[in-house]
Amino acid sequence: MIEQTLSIIKPDAVERNIANKIKVFFEKNNLKILKSKKVKISKEEASEFYKAHQTKPFYKELCNYLSSGPIVVMILEGENAVSKNRQLMGATDPSKAEEGTLRKMYGLSIGKNSVHGSDSAENGKTEIDFFFK
Ligand code: CDP
Ligand code: MG
Repeated sequence: MIEQTLSIIKPDAVERNIANKIKVFFEKNNLKILKSKKVKISKEEASEFYKAHQTKPFYKELCNYLSSGPIVVMILEGENAVSKNRQLMGATDPSKAEEGTLRKMYGLSIGKNSVHGSDSAENGKTEIDFFFK
């Protein structure tokens, strides 16, 4: 099934100028970048975006981090794009991510793990609307 998902290149990756490498990696792996823009969001916007995590101990740090610098937000489209993107990203903790995944290649820590990807088709729609509506 062809579907869409939201991808974010997080501040640690934008800062290191590897956004383009990450985009090429998606395209090479058959995820088409339908839309892409570089933005900087406020702490309030980050808190809204990550509200599903509001009870987690890392929530505040996470929101501070996502709003700390420019990010690149993208709509990816392809066969099973949600799960495909999650596979390409690898585990949340880069030290546990499989070889060849983005987080293994580029992630610095569990917080600064270079990329975000929607975790379901439904959340994908909500997250795409958040940035592109
Ligand atoms: O991003 P992913 O869906 O893999 O993980 P999540 O459980 O939805 O957590 C969202 C983000 O919170 C992660 O990507 C990390 O940046 C951050 N996080 C953290 O800083 N410390 C944790 N123990 C777990 C997640
Ligand atoms: Mg998640």
